[in-house]
Amino acid sequence: VAAEKEGHKHFMHKEIFEQPRAVADTIRGRISLEQGDVVLDGIELSEAQARGLERLVVVACGTSWHAGCSGAQMIEALARLPTEVELASEFRYSDPIVGPRTLVVAISQSGETADTLAAVKEAKRRGAPAIAICNVVGSAIPRECAEAKEPGAPRGTLYTHAGPEIGVASTKAFTTQLAALFLLAVRLGRLRGTLAADAARTHLEALRQVPLWMDQVIRQEPSVMPVAKRCAQARDVLFLGRGAQYPVALEGALKLKEISYIHAEGYAAGEMKHGPIALIDEALPVVVLATKEPAYEKTLGNMEEVRARGGLVFAVVSEGDTLAAGLAEVALTVPHAPPLLAPLLSILPLQFLAYHVADLKGTDVDQPRNLAKSVTVE
Ligand code: G6P
Repeated sequence: VAAEKEGHKHFMHKEIFEQPRAVADTIRGRISLEQGDVVLDGIELSEAQARGLERLVVVACGTSWHAGCSGAQMIEALARLPTEVELASEFRYSDPIVGPRTLVVAISQSGETADTLAAVKEAKRRGAPAIAICNVVGSAIPRECAEAKEPGAPRGTLYTHAGPEIGVASTKAFTTQLAALFLLAVRLGRLRGTLAADAARTHLEALRQVPLWMDQVIRQEPSVMPVAKRCAQARDVLFLGRGAQYPVALEGALKLKEISYIHAEGYAAGEMKHGPIALIDEALPVVVLATKEPAYEKTLGNMEEVRARGGLVFAVVSEGDTLAAGLAEVALTVPHAPPLLAPLLSILPLQFLAYHVADLKGTDVDQPRNLAKSVTVE
């Protein structure tokens, strides 16, 4: 087993390092820069079907649900298709309003999560076409999505090709899901005529840079140690982000609680004033995702508010942004990427943070208590 870890202390650490390669594998062979388009191998969806869609509903659990939250922003931005993201365990019992003009997209690393599979079946039963984004080839959800209820309706699976993920805390599955969702968003945008070839090309060129940018972030692993040491002492940690970084805040908090057993909460930065601000004191580390984005100044305002109350601010900031860095105790930098792709980079320092806090605390990083890699029962 030690050999399989290739010199890493834990599978999770190895899998964090594998992300540039994994994301490159997700996008390989799927981008046509000449056409300014994407080939979604495995998915059947015609132009007429894409144009006829009224809505898209993502169903997923856990980390895959966070990827869906990010993906919804990509799809709405590039394909102008109203998108909802549902927890599969809620969707299946919610008497969901879906039909032939709703495309259901199931996201699952394992392809075996019972709630997500049941959500797909429920959607199909109500006449909605379903496709999947999955890592494990031939698993239950891709099998369910292989056949459409109505002949000729959209169907199929876009595989992420992340390779086996052993650590229970999902890392490379998440970033490859984001890359796959970005591909889906571009393709939907092209099919629906909301995204011109030139604009698509610019987006796809940026996506191709992601593995290189990820490498740069991974090289900065040591800079996370002072933050990890401080968070390892904490009882609670708050993660704040807005826009594209809101799902990252949720995922950063989930990573930390899963493997370090420290209570963590992810919150939309703009909502801080409606609750979490009451918790802020010198004992509460606040990790702020403060990369340069449309409402970035507002996030700087949040950092000032935390500081004014004696709170301890750690931040993920865009490279060269001394203003945001100046408001943080420790700033972790990421290359500047277009906002929709920023989550693929800003999650990396948070994965390292969770990993090192857990390692400092000596928990079982790859096999956290009470958690399973794949939850095949309800
Ligand atoms: C479990 C795992 C999580 C995962 C979730 C959904 O809770 O521990 O890491 O995000 O299931 O799994 P899936 O395989 O459907 O993505």
